[in-house]
Amino acid sequence: NETPSSLIMIFGATGDLAKRKLFPSLYHLYQKGRLGNNFAVIGTARRPWTHEELKENVKDSVLTSIGNCENIDEFVSHFYYQAHDVTNTESYIELKQLANQLDEQYSLNGNRIFYLAMAPEFFGTIAEHLQTDGLNDTSGFKRLVIEKPFGHDLESAKALNTQIRKAFNEEEIYRIDHYLGKAMVQNIEVIRFANALFEPLWNNRYISNIQITSSEILGVEERARYYEKSGALRDMVQNHMLQMVALLAMEPPIKLSTDEIRSEKVRVFRALRPIEGEHVKEYFVRGQYGAGQIDGQDVPAYRDELNVDPASNTETFVAGKLMIDNFRWAGVPFYIRTGKRMETKSTKIVIQFKDIPMNLYYNTEQQQQLAPNLLVIHIQPEEGITLHLNAKKSGQHMETTPVKLNFSNTSTHGINTPEAYEKLLDDCLRGDATNFAHWDEVALSWNFVDKISEVWESKEQTEFPNYASGTMGPKEADELLENDGYFWWPVS
Ligand code: BG6
Repeated sequence: NETPSSLIMIFGATGDLAKRKLFPSLYHLYQKGRLGNNFAVIGTARRPWTHEELKENVKDSVLTSIGNCENIDEFVSHFYYQAHDVTNTESYIELKQLANQLDEQYSLNGNRIFYLAMAPEFFGTIAEHLQTDGLNDTSGFKRLVIEKPFGHDLESAKALNTQIRKAFNEEEIYRIDHYLGKAMVQNIEVIRFANALFEPLWNNRYISNIQITSSEILGVEERARYYEKSGALRDMVQNHMLQMVALLAMEPPIKLSTDEIRSEKVRVFRALRPIEGEHVKEYFVRGQYGAGQIDGQDVPAYRDELNVDPASNTETFVAGKLMIDNFRWAGVPFYIRTGKRMETKSTKIVIQFKDIPMNLYYNTEQQQQLAPNLLVIHIQPEEGITLHLNAKKSGQHMETTPVKLNFSNTSTHGINTPEAYEKLLDDCLRGDATNFAHWDEVALSWNFVDKISEVWESKEQTEFPNYASGTMGPKEADELLENDGYFWWPVS
């Protein structure tokens, strides 16, 4: 856990991600002493900013997101700016000169992190230039952090991977999935493997189904140019939702090393039943939001949003049933659903246990049904777990009542659990790639998703919009579970 020394080069330093996430996260790490003093940040983008302009922007972003900050001037003194043209060799040579100079000035031992936080069409080009123009040629470590989307489908992801692998080894590539940096997503593994209570029950003998919901209130915002070509399947399912499925379903790794954990996740993806052709409509539901009300305010339909085709067939909602065909999970559906303009902003996992073999407390007069045991993992905005049990109601009769055991991560560990990006940057600085997606995971999840998008894209006709803003999605998403005798447990 030594404090690393490194140069951090951010491509896309004038962009939204840098401003909202990267600068505040770096500042937090600095304040906690996780960054030390031997670091320098070079921000690059097309705009002709000066060092001072970048520093002002960093300061502003930190102040906006955190409020009053100590040592902010010392922190921003580590930042430098270089205007950059991603396709031009000259530009990289200038960057290299600045990098070498800072390397010496801050004793960085030649360590370099290249963070690509910009338009994905340039990911491959930048990686290649880093190699051919010698920025990669360094005595220390070199790491490439790459934002999503990693390709648009399997084919384009492969092409991108081939391009970046010319410059970086797999171990040097950190593919961001920011859900893997969330405290409670990281906790899935601990809840499962650090407790004697759950693991023996964590299989098809005791679990009836698992439900993962990630709902958002926001609509497409200003991102229609990207989202129109992506849709919820590529934007959320291929990465975040499938990653959560893998963590819930994987076998215990033999140890907590990056390779072991990732290879167990890969085995889950290999066991995912492919859903294709005619079966897609049995297993998957898509939706697009219509106009509606959110918090008493009228909001427009997706087709009326800025830069959206008025006849758009892009899905803003997906629900699906996933089957993992292995010994542990045969017969247990994993239901997922995610969408924009839904009722709440919430990510939650519900593990529903099977009913007990015989209900002793079933009384014909009272018609008392026992509620199933549920384990709820609250990913956000609350962080914690709730276990739903049945207990005896106080009084004379043997009546049962549902009780909830609650653990709140935030109130136990303080309200400031680090933001996902802070954890991921910290991991990258320390060379821990566990919470980043390996190429095999990316390839297998594209392979799964592509079969569904192929079917959806081949059918011109959609009955969109099919859910009103402010609701939990189209009725077909409820029917998906009803057909199996289940229902979505309420998320709020
Ligand atoms: C991103 C998607 O990866 O995740 C966005 O591109 C989505 O469309 C976001 O809004 C959701 O992340 P979070 O952390 O707010 O749940």
